[in-house]
Amino acid sequence: MERRRLGKTDMDVSVLGFGGSEIGYQRVSRRTVERLLGSALDAGLNVIDTAECYDNSEELIGRAVGARRADYHLFTKCGHGNSWGRAEWRPAALRKSIERSLKRLATDHVDLVQLHSCSLEHLRKGDAIAALERARERGFTRYVGYSGDGEAARYAVECGRFDALQTSVSVADQEAIDVTLPLAAKRGVGVIAKRPLANAVWRYARKPAEPYYQTYWTRLRALGPELLGEGDDAGGTALRFTLAVPGVHTAIVGTTRPERWHANAALLRAGALPADEYARIRARWAEVARPSWVGQT
Ligand SMILES: NC(=O)c1ccc[n+]([C@@H]2O[C@H](COP(=O)([O-])OP(=O)(O)OC[C@H]3O[C@@H](n4cnc5c(N)ncnc54)[C@H](OP(=O)(O)O)[C@@H]3O)[C@@H](O)[C@H]2O)c1
Repeated sequence: MERRRLGKTDMDVSVLGFGGSEIGYQRVSRRTVERLLGSALDAGLNVIDTAECYDNSEELIGRAVGARRADYHLFTKCGHGNSWGRAEWRPAALRKSIERSLKRLATDHVDLVQLHSCSLEHLRKGDAIAALERARERGFTRYVGYSGDGEAARYAVECGRFDALQTSVSVADQEAIDVTLPLAAKRGVGVIAKRPLANAVWRYARKPAEPYYQTYWTRLRALGPELLGEGDDAGGTALRFTLAVPGVHTAIVGTTRPERWHANAALLRAGALPADEYARIRARWAEVARPSWVGQT
């Protein structure tokens, strides 16, 4: 498994990471998570991303692989300690959330704490960023990051206080490629691609009922079926596209299945996406994307 240096940090991250939202939201069993993460770590995974509000994701990860903490870089988030939709950016609440994450993750420190989709307004106030910096001074986290999109992500990169940016990058979400990622590369900010497969919405013949999937589904329809091909080809092209984006260091694919990480690792054995394929997908986006096709949370 290829590894890339995450910006100016000391972390060499596997290009195929693990996104922890689905194991929490879809109530995956502890045994399944043990199999999923244990076998992926054995095969070269070394990035696990989760958050304070992904249901019991942090606990599942802590129980499944807390005993082999030295084998992976652990990223979590803060700002929604109670639930998604009830953001809380006061320093005391952020500290409480981070301390709870450490307990749940069965560790005394994480490698990266990210402000979880904090608004531009709250980023500008500066208190929330200062709270992360204090967490770093206390040794709760080695690095600090911002997770989000659009103008707030741009501010996060330009303010110079974050080590890493987690942002949406995929065939159906290319805004960051033009706007934020060139700035991140220039400043040596590590980039974690979230939603890197656009939730694999090509799997759905009809518009999915789940609102989280609908925007990407509609975009992919407009981009056309020839963009990705079919079956395994679609997953391979989509993943290799995201990893071909200049400045992207790791793609944290979410899954509920123990076999998925290995299957995706096998798709990457085809090597880097050829330059003409990459250019074709970028050109199609330039042709079809509307101004409203902004980075999705
Ligand atoms: N604001 C934020 O900070 C934020 C927001 C969104 C996401 N995230 C992070 O980003 C991670 C990834 O996002 P995500 O899970 O929403 O999106 P994603 O990784 O683009 O898509 C995950 C979906 O793709 C499927 N999949 C994976 N590999 C596949 C393949 N080769 N072929 C077909 N289907 C495949 C998985 O299904 P199976 O279960 O069948 O494998 C799962 O349903 C999250 O887990 C989370 O850590 C952060």
